[in-house]
Amino acid sequence: MTQPDPASDAPIERETEFPLSRKEFDFLAALVYEQTGIVLGENKRNLLYSRLARRIRALRMNSFREYCDLLGTPEGASEMPQLINAVTTNLTKFFRENHHFEHLRSVVIPALFAPGRRGARIRIWSAGCSSGQEPFSIAMTLAAAVPDLASWNCRILATDLDSNMIARCSAGRYNEKETESIPTDLRKKYMERERGESHLTFSTAIRKLITFKQLNLLDRWPMTGPFDAVFFRNVLIYFDVETQRQILNRMYGLIAPEGFLYAGHSENLSRVTDHFSLIGQTIYHRVPTERVS
Ligand SMILES: C[S@@+](CC[C@H](N)C(=O)[O-])C[C@H]1O[C@@H](n2cnc3c(N)ncnc32)[C@H](O)[C@@H]1O
Repeated sequence: MTQPDPASDAPIERETEFPLSRKEFDFLAALVYEQTGIVLGENKRNLLYSRLARRIRALRMNSFREYCDLLGTPEGASEMPQLINAVTTNLTKFFRENHHFEHLRSVVIPALFAPGRRGARIRIWSAGCSSGQEPFSIAMTLAAAVPDLASWNCRILATDLDSNMIARCSAGRYNEKETESIPTDLRKKYMERERGESHLTFSTAIRKLITFKQLNLLDRWPMTGPFDAVFFRNVLIYFDVETQRQILNRMYGLIAPEGFLYAGHSENLSRVTDHFSLIGQTIYHRVPTERVS
């Protein structure tokens, strides 16, 4: 891995306020794994402590013991989404790993929007979209490359496990600092600032391209595809190999025969499945069905 550990954005917090026993840590890690597929090894102890200490304070509890007891009861079901939202790592930014957007613009878009394909169904999925910077980067790339985009049957599906993230995405509202990685011309063209506001909001035309939905990749997927491209970046790293394989093989079934999958900078699909072949920097092409063993 060339970048810091994805969980390293968790503040370093000393375990002084609430004691966290080995048994409690193991219970919480097992529950998180069962619910989300996210693996929390002993090296994520500080992350788990700092994220859940906030929940314990918010619930006016005094210990991890009390929190674990709550999760073990039927009433604890309503706490489960909070637990899940607390343990996700949502690091993202606009045009992160820009070479994927370059590939989308120079290879995928010209093929999908070829003159003879007008009316064809074009679908892109941002799986694990976090706070929305990824699907909005896709939307801006499409809008900039296809001037009459509104007259095409083109949509982006953006999903994430974390319900707080999905609630945030739908507003399409970002602060000035967050928008810094958007090229100035695109920001001027597709974002608006209310008078006296420090935030910028995406135009209705851009927001209308994206459907945001909460989706746990471990659960049943309601959509049928096919997707012409899937952005599945910096999500796999949180899962063990078996979960990675299961999700990738399900994704394979939803990707169009000529479709692409974009992975995160430290993710290597070839080690996990033979369903995708590497054709560029973390850019994968769907292998034809007859060649899959
Ligand atoms: C680091 S962010 C990646 C955001 C974006 N794809 C990017 O590369 O910038 C990882 C996202 O994966 C989501 N995630 C983790 N486990 C998931 C699961 N089981 N199902 C769906 N999303 C999940 C998290 O909620 C988080 O928002």
